[in-house]
Amino acid sequence: MQLFLDTAEISEITARTGAGLVDGVTTNPSLMAKSGADIFERIAEICAAVDGPVSAEVVATDLEGILEEGRRLRAIADNVVVKLPLTADGLKACHIFSGEGIPTNVTLCFSLNQALLAAKAGATFVSPFVGRIEDMGGDGLGLLEAIREVYDQFGYETAILAASLRSATHVEMAARIGCDAATLPPKIFDSMILHPLTETGLKAFLDDWKKTGRSGLT
Ligand code: G3P
Repeated sequence: MQLFLDTAEISEITARTGAGLVDGVTTNPSLMAKSGADIFERIAEICAAVDGPVSAEVVATDLEGILEEGRRLRAIADNVVVKLPLTADGLKACHIFSGEGIPTNVTLCFSLNQALLAAKAGATFVSPFVGRIEDMGGDGLGLLEAIREVYDQFGYETAILAASLRSATHVEMAARIGCDAATLPPKIFDSMILHPLTETGLKAFLDDWKKTGRSGLT
């Protein structure tokens, strides 16, 4: 399963690389705006910092504008994935980019029908927003299951990228469901590593070792 960091902050990315755990990065206009950075410069920096797909999102909403922005973003680096909204024009752009071999991430997916259309349009990734569905009282994980079932049934190769995840449990569930990827805010990524028994167990091991009076292993 691929794990992406959902951030536009370079320091949040570089602090978590080096263990083979970060497979890529996703950004969106809100994260980019929060960073205050120039989108072209920041996407170039992120692409240099990670060896994997980096989703960069268009802000145009008409087909011509989406195509123009998507091509400019894609020209930044070979690992740019053009992130497109799940709208009629976004899906047309997805189909065109797919024909040109440009990878895409169709975002803001909230229903099985939308995911079906993204796959038919040739999306590389589809991003169902689990947390935002749950915020509205819906079944975000149920949507992931339904998309997995339908994609497998018809052999669609679009990768399911679980997004808008709110907890480490969401990540575990996305993995069990068979999502191809998940994108995580840095603090959720960090929480995957932690378990209280690991912490207390390590402390007990080290305390026992210290009682021997040895320093280090000898
Ligand atoms: O980047 C897309 C998605 O992960 C956004 O999540 O927390 O803003 O719903 P959130």
